[in-house]
Amino acid sequence: ATERKSLVAGNWKLNGSSALVNEMNQALNACDFKDTQVVVCVPSVYLGQFSASSFDVGAQDVSSHESGAYTGEVSADMLAECGAKWVIVGHSERRTYHAESNAVVAQKAQRALEAGLIPIVCFGEEESIRDSGDYVEHCVKQVAVVVEHLGIERFAQCVLAYEPVWAIGTGKTASPEQAQEVHQKVREFIAQKSAEVADGMRILYGGSVKADNASELFSQPDVDGGLIGGASLKADDFKAICQSA
Ligand code: G3P
Repeated sequence: ATERKSLVAGNWKLNGSSALVNEMNQALNACDFKDTQVVVCVPSVYLGQFSASSFDVGAQDVSSHESGAYTGEVSADMLAECGAKWVIVGHSERRTYHAESNAVVAQKAQRALEAGLIPIVCFGEEESIRDSGDYVEHCVKQVAVVVEHLGIERFAQCVLAYEPVWAIGTGKTASPEQAQEVHQKVREFIAQKSAEVADGMRILYGGSVKADNASELFSQPDVDGGLIGGASLKADDFKAICQSA
C-alpha cells in the first residue's frame, strides 16, 4: 500500500491573480518534489498562463455536459485544451452553493475521464452528521454513487479527497486518527469491489492542512496526501506542505 505515490493538490478557490500565477509558477518550478506529485487547481481562466514543469495544473470544476446551450459552463475538453491535467469534482462548496448531487458529481467525473483529465472526487460530512455518528456511512455513500456510475475500472482512474466540511477553512483540522478512520473505511468499501483498485486508490485529506500539521496527517497509512485550500495561496507554505508528503 505504501507504493501509492503521494500527491498534494492546491485549491485556490475564488482567489488569485495573474501575479500569483507568475509567482507560484516560478516558486514551484524551482523545486524538486522528488516522489511527490504536485498539482495546483486554479480558476480556469488562469490555466493557460502557467508553464509548469515540476507540477501539474488543474481546474476546480467541470461541466457535466459535453457541449451545447449551457451558458457559463466550461467543458472537460476545453480544460484539457488549456493545459489542465486534473479537475476537482464534488467539492463541498459546489455541493452546498450549487446544489450538486452525488449523481451530478459522478457525471462530472465521467466527463473529466473522457477528456483525459484525472478527477479529484471530494466527499465528506457536515458537522451535524459527524455528531450523529453516521459519518462513515455518509462518506461511503458519496463515494459509492461514483463507483456505481463509472464502474470500478474507470473509477480506478480517479483520486479521492476526504474533506470533512467542518474542517474546511475553519482552522479545525481533523485529527490524524479521525482522517485515518474515514480513509480506511472508504478503502475497505472499495476493496469489496476490487482489492487491487482499493490498494492503488489515492485518498487525500483536505481541511485546514497547514505546514505544521501536514506531516502528521500524511504519515497515516491510508492518507496519501492532501488537498490544500488557504495554505496553497502562499508559495512557502505550499512548498513546505508538498515537501512533507
Ligand atoms: O479543497 C481544499 C479545501 O476545501 C480545504 O480548505 O482552506 O481548509 O485548507 P482549507
